[in-house]
Amino acid sequence: MKHDLFRIKDLTKNELLDILDDAQAFASAYQDWQFPQRKLIANLFFEPSTRTHYSFVSAEHQLNCRVENFTAAGSSVEKGESLYDTVKTFERIGYDAVVIRHPQDEYFKELNNIQIPILNAGDGKGNHPTQCLLDLLTIRQEFHQFEGIKMAVIGDIRHSRVAHSIQEAMTMLGGETRFGGPLEWQDGNEAYVSVDELVAWADVVMMLRIQHERHESLMKMSSQEYLERYGMTKVRYHRMQDHAIIMHPAPVNRGVEIADELVESEKSRIFKQMSNGVLVRKAVLKRAFGYSFETEEER
Ligand code: NCD
Repeated sequence: MKHDLFRIKDLTKNELLDILDDAQAFASAYQDWQFPQRKLIANLFFEPSTRTHYSFVSAEHQLNCRVENFTAAGSSVEKGESLYDTVKTFERIGYDAVVIRHPQDEYFKELNNIQIPILNAGDGKGNHPTQCLLDLLTIRQEFHQFEGIKMAVIGDIRHSRVAHSIQEAMTMLGGETRFGGPLEWQDGNEAYVSVDELVAWADVVMMLRIQHERHESLMKMSSQEYLERYGMTKVRYHRMQDHAIIMHPAPVNRGVEIADELVESEKSRIFKQMSNGVLVRKAVLKRAFGYSFETEEER
């Protein structure tokens, strides 16, 4: 049986926690676990990516998959072929699963008729489930629970699939999410809190990249002004609680959403998140084909 991964809200709380448990197990007891039968995986990235793309590639290689990386340039997408026909082609020519990042929100709604598992590596401004899972794994490693965890998400909320996914997950798990940042990028009716208040309140402060590629007009503020008004400065760093941590999905604009010298500071888990990304992607690939660690049987 295949298990797609499109959105966090498609998972039950138990399914979500199972993925985190599997990801953690990949860091210890099951470090060397591989698919008993080799899988052929295609990574279809229609938007730029370094971490998500190559941590999927790393996870796939670690699980003994054969891996192909599709680029739209040079493919029949240039002749106008639809996403559905592209993915159907991969299914028909022998691929066992596809990983897709695409600029269209909820592109996967067009892909109901695909028989192989689809793992969403980011859809437009919509969802980014594997990023969310790696964020959750990082939070759980730190605090061992989600209940009552206070999370501040700061920056370009409206254009961020990361913000949307983590809010859904934290709500499901009993945590609390509050937003802050420039009002012009506020999403819906979500109440905003000042950045100075948020950093003092939160257990987890997640800074977001300004999603320039999704903006209709150029940002009027300079990088320095943005940092001072909304970013993680040294002053705000010292306002954080002793146990609190900083996260960022990256790529980081050093000196814009976070001061350069804080990217690898004691409170930063930014590079830890990247390592966790490989564990989480191994877990969702394993789940895609219905394997369990105990029996190594395909469910
Ligand atoms: C995020 C994305 O692509 O949505 N990055 C990532 O996957 N690590 C956030 C971003 O690009 O700012």
